[in-house]
Amino acid sequence: MSLFKKCYDYRDPEEARAAGIYPYFRPIAGCAGPHVIVDGKEKIMIGSNNYLGLANHPEVLAAAKEAVDRYGAGCTGSRFLNGNMDIHDELEERLARFVQKEAAIVFSTGFFVNAGTIPTITSRHSVILSDRENHASIAEGCQLSLGKVIRYQSSDMDALEAHLKRQQEVKEKLIVSDGVFSMSGEVCRLADMVRLAKQYGAKLLIDEAHALGVLGDHGRGTGEHFKLQQEVDLVMGTFSKSLASIGGFLAGPYEVISYVKHHARPLIFSASPPPASIAVALKSLEIMEREPELREKLHRNTDMAKEGLKELGYNVGSGEAAIVPVNLDCERDFTFTVAQALFDRGLFSTPVIPPATPPGKSAIRTSYMASHSEEDIKKVLQVFAEVGEEFGLIGRSNSVAAAAQTGQ
Ligand SMILES: Cc1ncc(COP(=O)(O)O)c(C=O)c1O
Repeated sequence: MSLFKKCYDYRDPEEARAAGIYPYFRPIAGCAGPHVIVDGKEKIMIGSNNYLGLANHPEVLAAAKEAVDRYGAGCTGSRFLNGNMDIHDELEERLARFVQKEAAIVFSTGFFVNAGTIPTITSRHSVILSDRENHASIAEGCQLSLGKVIRYQSSDMDALEAHLKRQQEVKEKLIVSDGVFSMSGEVCRLADMVRLAKQYGAKLLIDEAHALGVLGDHGRGTGEHFKLQQEVDLVMGTFSKSLASIGGFLAGPYEVISYVKHHARPLIFSASPPPASIAVALKSLEIMEREPELREKLHRNTDMAKEGLKELGYNVGSGEAAIVPVNLDCERDFTFTVAQALFDRGLFSTPVIPPATPPGKSAIRTSYMASHSEEDIKKVLQVFAEVGEEFGLIGRSNSVAAAAQTGQ
């Protein structure tokens, strides 16, 4: 029993279920589009990363079916040995061209890219400087690295510089950051990071998961947004958001990619992404390049939601991507209760609590798609207005509202 004690003691999900506010693992029946069906009822999906709405685009679906007919259901092996198909190579070439790097390597998930790349390119002589709000996959990569890891206050460039100064004699330095932070939607301070990386001889790895297809004139991400694409040494991206699939990639100098290709364990010792997933990423990339209007529509929808929520009196931060957090700063059960009230009124959103947020902070994370209609966004705002009134979230401080709710 001793090994499993913590599991048997862990009652949080049961308690939340008993209270009718458990918000996770909701079973979606059918396509993950702007509307989804859960328990037979339709909800507007504002909790997805299907930013360009391509997950059910007819051309994308056709490409997936064609790939299954041609290549079969799975690759049954790692790319390193028997699971590499010509479409994996084609996708790598296309991605490298798209993000303007010499080469790219495709992994089975974005998580694997970070968890595999960071320990592979660093050594026990390295120092990794990682933003505190970086994605869990970066934290995982840092934990697996033999190097020294320094986590700096999120987006605090003075703190980053102070750490870099203290590590002057260390030759191998890596700065790693999300381009767009996945919970807050804030864009990283890339210009400062580029300057500091140059000044202190560090290499820069940017995770473009939430920026690919969203930021930049061509949707290349944060690097393009700041017109600094050439200054970013390594670009990481995932297919699980704008590219409507599963898988991820790393792009950069040919030699670095070749090294990662022959050393990263999640790549070498795990099966390659299936043909349908690769075909979907390829087709989505093609549509993304061909139809910039999808990105424009995404931004119109996001702006409408953000401005509307702000007008209602919500604190939505200052992100520029397609993620709009409704910051509540309340305790867990109250945040779950608000999320459930939104759900009951027809919105599928995601509550975010520590450790995904700093202690004492919480949010309802909302995100938008090019395929939402204006009517959808109006409905979203109407529901947030109703729930905000009901729970006293708007017009007075959230902590006061939370205290009122919990009777403290
Ligand atoms: C910033 C960031 N990096 C990496 C990942 C991992 O990507 P994947 O879903 O492809 O494993 C995610 C996914 O949530 C993410 O948000």
